[in-house]
Amino acid sequence: MPSPPHITALIVAAGKGERAGGALPKQFQPLGGKPMLAWSIEAFAAHPAIGALYVVIGAGQEEHVRGLKDIEIITGGATRADSVRNGLEAIAASGGTSKILIHDAARPFLSAAVIDRLLDALKTASGAIPALPSVDTLALGADTLGDTVDRSQIVRVQTPQAFHFDAILDAHRAYTGPAATDDAQIARAAGLRVAIVAGDPALEKITMAEDFTRAEAQLERRRTSRTGLGYDVHRLEAGAPLWLCGVNIAHTHGLSGHSDADVALHALTDALLGAAAEGDIGAHFPPSDPQWRGAASHLFVEHAASLIRAKGGIIDHVDITLICEAPKIGPHREAMCAAVAQMLALTVAQVSIKATTTERLGFTGRGEGIAAQAVATIRL
Ligand code: CTP
Ligand code: MG
Repeated sequence: MPSPPHITALIVAAGKGERAGGALPKQFQPLGGKPMLAWSIEAFAAHPAIGALYVVIGAGQEEHVRGLKDIEIITGGATRADSVRNGLEAIAASGGTSKILIHDAARPFLSAAVIDRLLDALKTASGAIPALPSVDTLALGADTLGDTVDRSQIVRVQTPQAFHFDAILDAHRAYTGPAATDDAQIARAAGLRVAIVAGDPALEKITMAEDFTRAEAQLERRRTSRTGLGYDVHRLEAGAPLWLCGVNIAHTHGLSGHSDADVALHALTDALLGAAAEGDIGAHFPPSDPQWRGAASHLFVEHAASLIRAKGGIIDHVDITLICEAPKIGPHREAMCAAVAQMLALTVAQVSIKATTTERLGFTGRGEGIAAQAVATIRL
């Protein structure tokens, strides 16, 4: 049997998200182009110290995690504490682990620095939590104001919470106190020492619907503008079909080559891939692969766009220049803009298509081929 992982992460995502509302429980609602849960999964998966990842979901929520790789899926319980307990028992049943980080899927923006601080603190404590200081004046009160509470004594507790595994498992098994909203309470009830490390404002929990707006704004502040450039050439042949920017154009000649040879969409695909630093069209769709013979090139554009969106990116604008003497592009420009806008899920105002000749100079001037250039501007 392989030795158990030293450090395991457990994400609880079995809640109903009642306060946030919406068609789906909040952990499966989209945030920056992917389900909120995906952010925490990726944060742990990217950290070199984490050897295994368990995700607790509610009964009947399996469809939302189908296809996720290298993750153990556990069914949760009626309360957060029940869900954590189910996760801990599943980990114990599969051989245990030395240290565990227990995290809410509702806190999507987990940095490696927070994980590092927690693991460091575990060297000298049974548990460690990230917490933020209280900055507002704090007071007791309902209708009328009661006494002010010394805010220097109050911290705002976040997750992940890190523990020596056997200690937190025993604490959960023994706990009989009031409903606990985190695991540090359960650890303390068992007499464990829980250290506090610096929390992260980015880790605040998504609880209400409006918190999604805040989280999207957080993501927007992290994005930078990027530009990608693409260029392509295809040979003109008498009698071949001519596809340009996803539009079939009646002409004496058409383009030959890989796929439907839509030179403009190939340049556009490279521009999008370039903006995302994701290689080039040949790497994603090798010309040697027979499945792309005759393929409609909008598939390549859509693939590049979905790659950008899967990374939480936004496509702002694309600009294509076709370089040829014939056919005339003007009469087809509107249809081309509409086609490109549709494949990128943009408005036509975000798509520019231009054409130029080369004064009968060079291969484009002689009508031997058509060249295309494209730029794509994205935020990532
Ligand atoms: N959670 C869980 N199992 C439960 C309840 C909550 O795994 N039975 C998880 C949630 O999915 C979330 C975390 O615990 O990641 C923190 O809980 P909370 O923010 O309260 O989420 P919900 O319980 O889903 O939201 P609400 O209380 O508004 O219904
Ligand atoms: Mg809850």
